Formats: sequence, structure tokens, C-alpha cells
Amino acid sequence: MYEAQYKDYSPDFVMYDTLLEKNIPVVEFGSGTGRITLHLLEQGYRVFGIETDEDYQGFFLNKIQEKGSNDNFCYVTDITEVKERCNIIYPFNVLFHLNYQQVEAELNKLHKFRHYWNKLIIETDNIQYINSESFRSKFHQDQDYLFKEVPRPSQSKIIIYNEVIEKRSFNIILKFDYSLYLHKADDLHLIYNQIFPRAKFYGDFNLQFYRKNSPKLIAMCINNH
Ligand SMILES: C[S@@+](CC[C@H](N)C(=O)[O-])C[C@H]1O[C@@H](n2cnc3c(N)ncnc32)[C@H](O)[C@@H]1O
Repeated sequence: MYEAQYKDYSPDFVMYDTLLEKNIPVVEFGSGTGRITLHLLEQGYRVFGIETDEDYQGFFLNKIQEKGSNDNFCYVTDITEVKERCNIIYPFNVLFHLNYQQVEAELNKLHKFRHYWNKLIIETDNIQYINSESFRSKFHQDQDYLFKEVPRPSQSKIIIYNEVIEKRSFNIILKFDYSLYLHKADDLHLIYNQIFPRAKFYGDFNLQFYRKNSPKLIAMCINNH
């Protein structure tokens, strides 16, 4: 489903191509169906994926085996399994899958293991307020299918109810839901600055400096140890 919906999404690639050095392996946290990993492999990077969903792992391993590009990729469960210094990316709202305590724990762990990495890049949407806009339904479509996402608040998180509708018949062919924690940019900014005081902040994929009205909050922490 994620693959169908986002397979053609690529505006973030330019940022990774600019910020990541080719001779340093990349660890992608929440690599999902491998949209970014595959791009990086095609660009000549070596990549380690961290992904909890075994279906996504199987899907992606099959995909790269078919393409013959599996030599430069493997899954790890933790950065400490990567035995050379790496760059780490947390792309596309992956942090929104973690609650605030889990985000804090992840960042503290990365700080503790800072001798394992050079650059850490974390990308989320820039959320200033959580208001009725945050719960607006979204629609995407491709040639054959309409993808409907309806967010509903549920205590500290939101549940995104999804439907895939076949355009030809108007039949709903798939229904599923997942939860997200919409972290406000000010809260993330604060915690990034506390743990990584020298972090730089960008507001879009062209690396314009972050402002309150930027579409994105992208933190880049550079580790000189
Ligand atoms: C929004 S998808 C992003 C996929 C891909 N990075 C991209 O940008 O296209 C988020 C992914 O993070 C994974 N994920 C969520 N929590 C995780 C965790 N604690 N550890 C590793 N992966 C996780 C989910 O299974 C999902 O595949």
C-alpha cells in the first residue's frame, strides 16, 4: 500500500544526494518498502536498513534480488551492528511513529553511540499547531486507484484510517489503519538542541534555513568526534 501510494514520491532524493557522501555507508531508520534505499543503492551508496515490519523487509529483499542490487544492502536491528562509521537518516515522518519518550530514548541512544556515525539527518513535517487542519482528509490517486486517508484524534496520537478505492468500479478494495504521534516542531527543536547542541536546521529539501512557516523541519547533526 505504502509502495503504491508513494512509489513516485522523490522530492527528498536531492537532499540526500547533496548531504550524504558516497564513500560512507548510510543507515536508514524505518526503511519501509525501500523507496529511498533503492535510490541510494542506484546512486552507488552502501545501505543498512532498520525496519521492524517483516513484510516490508521481505518485499524489499525480493525487489533488490530481482534487480541484482542486493550486494550493497543488508538489514540491521541497531547501529551498533554497523562496524564502520556511517551516516544515519530518519526520513519522511518516521519519528512520528514513535511517542515523545521513544523519540527521546532514540536520540539519547544515538548520542551515546556517536562514535558510530558522522551525520544524522532527521526529517519531519513542520507542525506548528495541531488544529482542525491536522485532521483534514487527504486524497491521492494514480491511474487505477484512489487513496483516501482520514485522520482521527485518539488521546495523544492520531489514527489514520485508509481506504484504497478502485476507480473503475468505485469498490473499496483495501481498508487499514495506523497510528501516528504528531510532534510539534517546537518540541522537536527543543529536544534536538538539548541532545545535539550543534545541530543545523533546514526547512525544505533545497536546504533553505528553517523558519516557522517552512514546510519541513530537517535536523542535521554533525559529529566531529
Ligand atoms: C512512513 S514509512 C517511511 C518509509 C521510507 N523511509 C520512506 O521514506 O519512503 C515509516 C516506516 O518506519 C517503520 N518503523 C516504525 N517504527 C519503527 C521502529 N521503531 N524501528 C524501525 N522501523 C520503524 C515502519 O514500519 C515504516 O516502514
